[in-house]
Amino acid sequence: MQTITVRAPSKTYEVTLGRALLTQAGELTAHLAPGGRALVVTDSHVDALHFPTLAKSLRAAGLTVEKFVFPAGEASKTMDTLAALLSYMAACRLTRADAVYALGGGVTGDLAGLAAALYMRGLPLVQLPTTLLAAVDSSVGGKTAVDLPEGKNLVGTFFQPDRVLCDTAALETLPPAELACGYAEVIKYALMTDRALFDTLCAGDGGALEQIIARCVSIKAAVVAGDELDRGERQKLNLGHTFGHAIEKASGYTVPHGHAVAVGMVLVTRAAVRRGLCPADCLPRLVGLLAQYRLPTETAYTEEELLGAVLTDKKRAGDRMTLVVPREIGACDLLTVEPETVRAFLSLGLGGQP
Ligand code: GLY
Repeated sequence: MQTITVRAPSKTYEVTLGRALLTQAGELTAHLAPGGRALVVTDSHVDALHFPTLAKSLRAAGLTVEKFVFPAGEASKTMDTLAALLSYMAACRLTRADAVYALGGGVTGDLAGLAAALYMRGLPLVQLPTTLLAAVDSSVGGKTAVDLPEGKNLVGTFFQPDRVLCDTAALETLPPAELACGYAEVIKYALMTDRALFDTLCAGDGGALEQIIARCVSIKAAVVAGDELDRGERQKLNLGHTFGHAIEKASGYTVPHGHAVAVGMVLVTRAAVRRGLCPADCLPRLVGLLAQYRLPTETAYTEEELLGAVLTDKKRAGDRMTLVVPREIGACDLLTVEPETVRAFLSLGLGGQP
């Protein structure tokens, strides 16, 4: 078991990683709910897998457990589900002395986190990631959101959790495809800032999943401590996401986030290489590593199909956008550019003319 402290300007909290942590969730977090009630938010898939273990632990610590279950999948990350969850919180008569427990992957954490931030202007929040993607990224750092038909994560807040408990045994129940999606975010951290992690991943993870998660969470903790509100350095965590979100949107959110980010990293790296911003060997090394983790490296979507979604991405500020561009394996830069330059990067990334 290991603990990493996140010192975000708005809140300091601990992220604990270890096997069977769900069985200890009650004793580790009951103090956050002096009112005695725990609302567990989870999806229809995770409910059957992990809710009974969590509920038993919370009840053993003296908490009354309520549960809100929504259909698994990104399609649930909507204003409608959020409204239903907020109404359920009111029907349960939750108060600020009760706590919300987000049990699941990124959709659950984003949705439950936003509801916890909004209901009565803020309830204690415990994040319990059960996917690798949520463990290394979305459960830490306080970004919460739902999607609009116009785009992903367009309605949200920054709202840090009070505690994150990552039960690494729960990650072992993940289907291989789901685990691969998490590795897309792990590879993102490596490409963005950690050449040693990149080399470790190339060598195979050797069963050291907890160490890999700890490394990613430590990187994220440092970034969030310096730029909680995403004004500068934190934007580097969006490496691969500008084009990745466009692929997700173009597919009607049928392409999984991890697959989209994997392809998004390839597109921006290819464009960076072709513009002379990044050494040529970075591209085959990245493509090779993604393939090793069974992630896609190409998309069939055209520039026309992706461009509209790219230009409505929330990473746009006024008429300029910030692109995260690799400089080498383990380092990247933020480029604030005009829409025309974004189009040029997308075109080069897809293999178009320089
Ligand atoms: N997922 C990127 C961030 O938390 O900033």
